[in-house]
Amino acid sequence: MPVLIRSETTAAIPVSLDSVARTGARLLRRYGLDDVELSILLTGDERMAELNQTYRQKTGPTNVLSFPMPAEEGPAGRVMLGDIVISVDTARREAESRGITCHRRIARLLVHGFVHLLGYDHERSPTEAETMLAEENKILDNLKRPQRRNAMVNLAINVDHVATLRQARGINEPDPVTAANICELAGAGGIVVHLREDRRHIQDRDVWLMRQLVKTKLNLEMGASEEIIKIALDLKPDMITLVPEKREELTTEGGLDVDGQLPRLKEVVKRMSDAAIPVSMFIDPESRQIMASREAGAAFVEIHTGRYSDAANEAKADREFDLVATAAEEAYESGLRVNAGHGLNYLNTSRVAALGTIEELSIGHAVMARAIFVGLDQAVREMLALLV
Ligand code: PXP
Repeated sequence: MPVLIRSETTAAIPVSLDSVARTGARLLRRYGLDDVELSILLTGDERMAELNQTYRQKTGPTNVLSFPMPAEEGPAGRVMLGDIVISVDTARREAESRGITCHRRIARLLVHGFVHLLGYDHERSPTEAETMLAEENKILDNLKRPQRRNAMVNLAINVDHVATLRQARGINEPDPVTAANICELAGAGGIVVHLREDRRHIQDRDVWLMRQLVKTKLNLEMGASEEIIKIALDLKPDMITLVPEKREELTTEGGLDVDGQLPRLKEVVKRMSDAAIPVSMFIDPESRQIMASREAGAAFVEIHTGRYSDAANEAKADREFDLVATAAEEAYESGLRVNAGHGLNYLNTSRVAALGTIEELSIGHAVMARAIFVGLDQAVREMLALLV
């Protein structure tokens, strides 16, 4: 166990310990220190201020401290590089003031602390400060995973609302299958439909016809009920997205609690995997749910952008956006493929699409609402134009 990670802060940690530990392990590997131990402690400002006072005679907290372990002091038989202590409180403030995610800030601080342990010290001279910064930048560049496969984010259109309009009259138009075809012709890279247990909009006939006609990618959104699971296994969509489903809700309200029903969802993922159907978990932007989705064996997560989209003011939207960005980054780094959606519209989508970690956006209501006035083809094209 080369990386020993611990958190002693009572505040919610905005990054997963797992992901910080993985970064630590990659740093050790990069320097050929695979057998060497590194200890990482995430703490709060109060404890950081104590350490800063005790070891550096400085008042107040700082962002990161490194304590190299002299060879003779390490535990017998083990080689330790040392300890890195990061104040999550300071990291959070610094991330906010720089307009970056806390995840990214902590990665930078970890790298900074690590380079100190290697012997670099920016306080010795301006030249050494420059060399140290260059080394940090090189490492951070190297830590970045390759960008998503396509330069542009994929647009998947949810056509449920076309079916809602049809069901309002109980006749056969407008047809969501025709809508799916038009969306694809306009450039959409996927079609999403939610086959609800109460069949309030999409019907079985729709999904079967779309299975034959959709040329891009059919994503079946569904609750994990036995009836719908069986349909999915027969239908074999290109992927499924598991969502929580309540009969009384107007639309999917919150993310799926993957962590709270892990054994059941593991079993669903296994059944889908046996039928070669990739599974995505629609989750709130939380570390706990990302880690659980990974553990469940999901290939994708879809980050719920509802709270970002519904934010009452700019400051709240910024905070929610940061959570989405952090979650997307964390999920991406952990090897999951990342989609996002819910509530995205012509004003708030570009920012999410610009995140290099997100592969696909799932958008329904805003496109259908605009289609009423400008036509579906035009509405899809206008949304696509925002994704470049
Ligand atoms: N993703 C999921 C999982 C959803 O449930 C929905 C709503 O059906 C969407 C995306 C699309 O949301 P909207 O219709 O607000 O664009």
